[in-house]
Formats: sequence, structure tokens, C-alpha cells
Amino acid sequence: MYDNWEDLEKSIINCKKCNLYTNRTNIVFGQGNKNADIMFIGEGPGADEDRQGMPFVGKAGKLMNTAFEGLGINREEVYIANIVKCRPPNNRTPESDEATACLDYLRNQVILVKPKIIVLLGSTALKNILGNEHSITASRGKWIEKKGIYYMPTWHPAALLKDENKKIEFWRDLKAVVERYETIKN
Ligand code: URA
Ligand code: SF4
Repeated sequence: MYDNWEDLEKSIINCKKCNLYTNRTNIVFGQGNKNADIMFIGEGPGADEDRQGMPFVGKAGKLMNTAFEGLGINREEVYIANIVKCRPPNNRTPESDEATACLDYLRNQVILVKPKIIVLLGSTALKNILGNEHSITASRGKWIEKKGIYYMPTWHPAALLKDENKKIEFWRDLKAVVERYETIKN
């Protein structure tokens, strides 16, 4: 564990802890307010993210930005990261050994950000953060409190591209996040 961002970021640049390093153009560390009250956790970089080294800058990210704008969430005020920092080939789901290898970095990010709310975007984020027994279908939209952090599992933005109903539910879940945030911020 690192107690500062500089050392943590440095430790990731040359990471070869799992095989995903062979496929990456850039590490996607994370982006946003390092003291955010709200943190978003996705799955892993896609092609656009791998190219730019930033999370959620492709199609799914654009959809997320639209929801943020509609709900009054400022992307610069939140912190956004992923379960794995390197792009899985063909955007496949990260294997559990890859997620396990990478998870310490994310845990360290959470410790440094100290968010009050964590939005888990999709099944990979949910299972790796809160445990394999959770299913996104059953858990989405329901708050889970653990060690003082409120977790909101919701759909991964990429899932919204194919399903209008999920868009409505995603919107509703983020609205619940905004409402809780309004009540907890000083
Ligand atoms: N999908 C993710 O899970 N994360 C990104 O950063 C982009 C797409
Ligand atoms: Fe290291 Fe994570 Fe990249 Fe694997 S995905 S090589 S653990 S930074």
C-alpha cells in the first residue's frame, strides 16, 4: 500500500503482475477528483481507453457523460477507475486471476480517495468488490453499506447501448446516488 498518489501511480506504470500487460498500449489508472465523495468503478479499458490512457472515453463513456449531464454530476468532481488497468484482448471480461492481481491498486485508490459512495458499474465491478455471491440483476439499484461506504451496484454503461430499459434503471440508480450525496455533503 502507498500513502500517496505519486508512488502508487509509479508502481503501476511498469506492472507485469498479470498477462494483460502484453496487450496494453497505455495503463488506464483512473481519472478525476482525488478527494471525491463519489467514486465510479468499471471493468477495464476498451480500445479507446487503451489508446488514450483514460477511463470511459469511448462509446460507453459518452453514454455515461450524457447521464452525468442530465443528473447534474460533474465528471471532474467524481473519481473514475476500473477493476483492471490494462485492456483485456477483444474487450473480454477480465479473468479472476487478472482481477485479483490488479485489485490491490484499486483498493489503494479507494483508501486514498476515501469516497462516501461507490458506484459499481456492472457485474465485474460488483463481484470483485463485494463478492462473487452477488448478482447484478438482483443487486442493482439497492444500497449496500460496508465499513461506512455506501455501494450502489448498477448496469455497466455498455449494457445500456442495447437495452432502453436498462437506460431508465441506470438513470434511476444514479439519481439515488445524487440524492444520497445531497444529504451527506456538509
Ligand atoms: N468500460 C469499462 O469498464 N471501463 C472503461 O474505462 C471503459 C469501458
Ligand atoms: Fe498489472 Fe493490473 Fe495491468 Fe495486470 S491489469 S498488468 S495487474 S496493471
